[in-house]
Amino acid sequence: MIYLKSREEINLIKQSGRIIGEIFEKVKGKIKGGITTQELDEWIDSFIRKKGAQSAFKGYRGYPKCCCISVNEEVVHGIPSSRVIKEGDIVSIDVGVKLDGYIADAARTFPVGKISKEKARLMSVTEQALYLGIRQVRVGNRVGDISHAIQTWVEKNGYSVVKVLFGHGVGYFLHEDPVVPNFGKAHRGELLQDGIVLAIEPMVNAGGDKVRVLNNGWTVVTSDGKPSAHFEHTVALVDGKVMILTR
Ligand code: MF3
Ligand code: CO
Repeated sequence: MIYLKSREEINLIKQSGRIIGEIFEKVKGKIKGGITTQELDEWIDSFIRKKGAQSAFKGYRGYPKCCCISVNEEVVHGIPSSRVIKEGDIVSIDVGVKLDGYIADAARTFPVGKISKEKARLMSVTEQALYLGIRQVRVGNRVGDISHAIQTWVEKNGYSVVKVLFGHGVGYFLHEDPVVPNFGKAHRGELLQDGIVLAIEPMVNAGGDKVRVLNNGWTVVTSDGKPSAHFEHTVALVDGKVMILTR
């Protein structure tokens, strides 16, 4: 069942989302060769606490850290650790924040210093896929219109979308209905209406769409070892217009 949110509730989700926007602005300067993913997680954790908020990930199904940090061939759910990031890596940071009971969820992929042309193109195609998906959020459209826009764009660019993980409704809980696949047919699925709040999150692989989960039970990696990028925003449909809540 889809929980539609009131204007007031959407503003509260936006307060959580604004914290994530600030995190991404500030963490950018910290993502340099030599830093560990654990250090980034600690900085993000303390920032969230300073804002009087909490991580929506920590403790979720036993997830141990405050955010997910996924490097290169890691698609999503990288667990912050002593892994040292290095120049040329791409680093995806996924953060969920809960403030006053309302959750926002967003992710973005950052370059570490100078990266290859191929990684830069992967990042830009993925970010554009997100915005093409967001553009489909209007009254009368369906979830499938978002999915289709993302898949078409990604495949046109020679990349593949991950098929076993999805975007989702969000707000009261981290994962609510509906699921928002990054592939599918236009004009299919749930109708989008005022008050719907969605986390749209294309996960795009430079190579094939096959993935596997590491022994830690969380981290999803590409089967072919090629890099993957991830961009996510929480958005809402308000008065017939899409509003991005995580910046
Ligand atoms: N943003 C991701 C998602 O929407 C991460 C959640 S998994 C967690 O599925 F365990 F880290 F919370
Ligand atoms: Co999400």
